[in-house]
Amino acid sequence: MTGSKRKTPDALRSARWFAPDDLRAFGHRSRAMQMGYAPEEWAGRPVIAILNTWSDAQPCHMHFKTRVDDVKRGILQAGGFPMELPALSLSESFLKPTTMLYRNLLAMDAEELLRGHPVDGVVLMGGCDKTTPALLLGAISMGLPTIYLPAGPMLRGNWKGKVLGSGSDAWKYWDERRAGKISDSDWVDVEAGIARSYGTCMTMGTAATMMAMAETLGMTLPGASSIPAADASHIRMSAETGRRIVEMVWEDLTPRKIMTRDAFLNAITVAMAVGCSTNAIIHLIAIARRAGQDIGLNDFERASRTVPVIANIRPSGDKYLMEDFFYAGGLPGLMEQIRGQLHLETMTVTGKTLGENIKGAEIYNDDVIRTPANAIYKEGALAVLKGNLAPDGCVIKPSACAPKFLKHTGPALVFDDYPSMKEAIDRDDLDVTEDTVLILRNAGPQGGPGMPEWGMLPIPKKLVKQGVRDMVRLSDSRMSGTSYGACILHVSPESYIGGPLALVKTGDMISLDVDKRTINMNVSDKELASRRAAWKKPEPRYERGYGWMFTRHIKQANEGCDFDFLETSFGAPVAEPSIY
Ligand code: FES
Repeated sequence: MTGSKRKTPDALRSARWFAPDDLRAFGHRSRAMQMGYAPEEWAGRPVIAILNTWSDAQPCHMHFKTRVDDVKRGILQAGGFPMELPALSLSESFLKPTTMLYRNLLAMDAEELLRGHPVDGVVLMGGCDKTTPALLLGAISMGLPTIYLPAGPMLRGNWKGKVLGSGSDAWKYWDERRAGKISDSDWVDVEAGIARSYGTCMTMGTAATMMAMAETLGMTLPGASSIPAADASHIRMSAETGRRIVEMVWEDLTPRKIMTRDAFLNAITVAMAVGCSTNAIIHLIAIARRAGQDIGLNDFERASRTVPVIANIRPSGDKYLMEDFFYAGGLPGLMEQIRGQLHLETMTVTGKTLGENIKGAEIYNDDVIRTPANAIYKEGALAVLKGNLAPDGCVIKPSACAPKFLKHTGPALVFDDYPSMKEAIDRDDLDVTEDTVLILRNAGPQGGPGMPEWGMLPIPKKLVKQGVRDMVRLSDSRMSGTSYGACILHVSPESYIGGPLALVKTGDMISLDVDKRTINMNVSDKELASRRAAWKKPEPRYERGYGWMFTRHIKQANEGCDFDFLETSFGAPVAEPSIY
C-alpha cells in the first residue's frame, strides 16, 4: 500500500481503552498488568485479536491449540500485542442438528467479540465448513483490518494402499457395504484410515472451497489455503500471517478495501474452476451482502457458462485430493492458469493486487491442475435451475453427477421428512426405479431447521443391490461439498414456508434439463392452485431460544441464509462501544 497514510499509535482503536488518564483506563491497564504484561508490551502497539475456533469437539482444528502460538510469535515479532479470543467452534462432524443452524451465531460471536474488546486488527482462525464464512461475515461487519488463517486440509486417507477421500469415500464404501461387497471389518478399517491427520476434509468439499474463496477474495496470504495442515510450511505461514496483520493495522487495510464486487466475481470464477461445493453459493452471497456488494445467483449462472473445471480433485475429479493440489502448485497455480478470466487489480491482505500475488505461479502437475483445453468439465461446476418447482432457483453440480441425468424426466417419490425417508429407503417393496426422482421436503432453512446436508439422499437399497449408484434427487436442503450425484439442492422458496415443493405429490412427473437450466413438475396451474388451497402451514419448529430467533429471521438460500437484521442494508452501522 505504497503512498497511503500510516496510522499513528495514538490513532489506534485500542488506545481508547489503554491511553486515557481516567479511572476506566486505569482498570484496563491494571488488569493487563494482572496478567503479567508490562505497559511497554501494549502501549502504542496494535492489539491483535486472534479468533480461535479450536475446541475438543473440532478434529479439523486440533492443531489450532498450538498453531495459535505461531501466530502470536509473528505478531510479537512485528511489534504487535496478541490477544487470543476463543470463538464458537462449529464442528461439522459433531454439532447437531447441523452447523448451518449456527453459522450466523458464530458470525455474531465474531462481530461482537471484536467490537467489545480493545483490538485493532484480527486474525481469523477457521477452516471447517461454516467457520470460514461465519468468521468473514462477522469481521466484515466489524470492519477492522482482518486476515484469514485457513486450517488447511488433512493428509490423504489410506486403506489397504488405496487413497481415501473425506466424505466421498464414506458414501461410496457405505453403499458397497449395503450392497454386501465389503465386510464389517473392512468397514472398521476404512473408518480408521479415512481421517489420518488434523486439518479439514481433503476433498474439494465446503471447507477446501471456502478456504480457497477466502484466498481468492484477497483475505489470506498467497497460497495459504492449499497448504496441508500437517505441513511445516503451514506453521511458517501462520507466523507470517501474524506478522502481516500488524502491518495491515498501520496501513488501515480493512475488508471493505479488499472485498469489492470484482473480488467476489473472482471468487465465483475460481469456485467454478475448482469444482466447488454447492454451499459456496449460499456463503458467497451472504458474505457479499455484508460487504455491501450485490451478488446473486445470476452471477454464478454467468460464470458457470464460461469457466471450465480445471482442478482434477474429487468429487468433481476422479482421482486427486487437496494434498495433490498443493504439490501441483495450489491455488496460485490454478489462478495463474485462468488469469485471463480474473480481475487482477483487486487488493489483497498483502497490500498488493491479486495479479501481483499470483504472477509467475507455476504448475507442477498438469493432470491435477489442467489447462482449460484439457478441462475435466467444460463448463462450471454448478448450474442454477429455475422453473415451477423452484421459482427462486435451485442448484445442481453437473460436474459430479452421471451425465445421463442432466436431461431427465421421471416420476416423483416424495418424503415429507428425513425420518420417513430413512425408514422407507431400504425396504424391498419400495416402489422405485432408477428413473424415479427422489424428493425430500421440509429440509430447508426453516424446515430442516438450518438446511441440513441431507440432499444426497441414499440410493434405495434394492437399487444399490442392482448396481445403481446415481439417480435424480431433489430437496430444499444442502449437501456436503464432498458429496456427488444428480442432487438438486437449495430449492427456493423452501417447502416449509409454502414453496411449490410443498405441493408435489408422489407420481407427478418431474422434468430436469441442465442445459436449458430448467426444473419443472408437469402439473397444471389449475391443479397446483387447488393443492395450494389445501396446503396447511406447519407448526413453528421452536417455541423459545436461539432456534426461535433463527426461524423468524433466517433468509432463503438464494439470498445467502443470513439473518435479516445482520445484513448491512438492515440499518445504520453499529457504533463503537462507549467506555464510561
Ligand atoms: Fe471439518 Fe469436513 S468435517 S472440514
